[in-house]
Amino acid sequence: MTQKVILTGVKPTGSLHLGNYIGAIKPFLDMARGSKDNYLFIADYHALNALYDPVAFKSNSVEMAAAYLALGLNPDETVFYRQSDVPEVFELMNLLCAVTPKGLMDRAHSYKASVDKNRAEGKDVDAGVNMGLYTYPILMAADILAANTDIVPVGKDQVQHVEFARDIAGYFNNTFKKDIFKLPEYRLEKTGAILPGLDGRKMSKSYKNDIHIFTDSKTRKNAVMKIMTDSKLPNEAKNPDENIIYQLYIHFANDQQIAEMREGFEKGGMGYGDAKKLLLAAVENYFAPFDPVYNDYMAKPKLVNDLLMAGALKVRKKARETLSEARETVGLHPIA
Ligand code: ADP
Ligand code: TRP
Repeated sequence: MTQKVILTGVKPTGSLHLGNYIGAIKPFLDMARGSKDNYLFIADYHALNALYDPVAFKSNSVEMAAAYLALGLNPDETVFYRQSDVPEVFELMNLLCAVTPKGLMDRAHSYKASVDKNRAEGKDVDAGVNMGLYTYPILMAADILAANTDIVPVGKDQVQHVEFARDIAGYFNNTFKKDIFKLPEYRLEKTGAILPGLDGRKMSKSYKNDIHIFTDSKTRKNAVMKIMTDSKLPNEAKNPDENIIYQLYIHFANDQQIAEMREGFEKGGMGYGDAKKLLLAAVENYFAPFDPVYNDYMAKPKLVNDLLMAGALKVRKKARETLSEARETVGLHPIA
């Protein structure tokens, strides 16, 4: 049986937090362990549309790569690379542009969200919208189709983009009456868990309510101590399911520890201060084996770069074949 090709991209965002780990990094690593043909890339061109700071832009990619490597990504099993190191993707995007209706881009959530925001603020509908944002789904389609992908694991917000990639592949195949591209399918990441942040809203770097995965103990402690609680006294009974501390604890503590905290909250006797200390210990303990590995990668950006370049070479071989076939199909000469 042929193995399904699984591919996904992550935007380098810098300073990854516990929500990123539980919602995106861990599910990918779990999935990669069971698959023989999988690809993970750092979607730096997708991040460029909104970040014009070359130093931060560069370091975000290194940080992202170091985090995945430290947390268990095995570059011998997963083809791990940077989008920008695969020039074939960008030429393929150009070919796809030729068959992609403008109306499809008008309907993309990423673009519509900006339009709606501008409208609500009484601004020109396209204020602040660059062509990178507008054509975002076509580049994403090129990422996916270049590697001959079957399955794209994504979060809910990216489902529409994968459906667009499928539509675009179909337009191309139909226009040229040849099945050049496989029609990719999305796979919704299994964990529906949304981790709350310090203030109870979704943990997000944009709300500055996050706890970073890799940080020093003091900063981590300060963050945990800032978690919002109500004014119930330690001996009062509390509902753990409405409690930020417990909602985070369940992801990092073991079953017995979780049961004990739950009981302490439900019966009374578990104060917020003590619960925060337990959470801090659980998070520290969870990431303790990864911390030194991460610091080591961060101290060796050249090694990280070499690993990513080696991954890029692997995917480029495949992408060249796809691109060459697509070029030939439209009447261009194949790649020599
Ligand atoms: P942020 O909201 O901090 O900007 P991103 O939008 O960059 O995070 O998210 C990157 C990935 O991390 C997303 O695909 C999503 O699956 C996951 N993620 C982000 N925040 C959370 C959260 N609070 N809980 C679970 N998963 C999350
Ligand atoms: N757009 C995705 C995000 O913001 C990242 C991404 C880029 C991607 N290209 C992709 C995801 C291809 C899956 C497949 O999260």
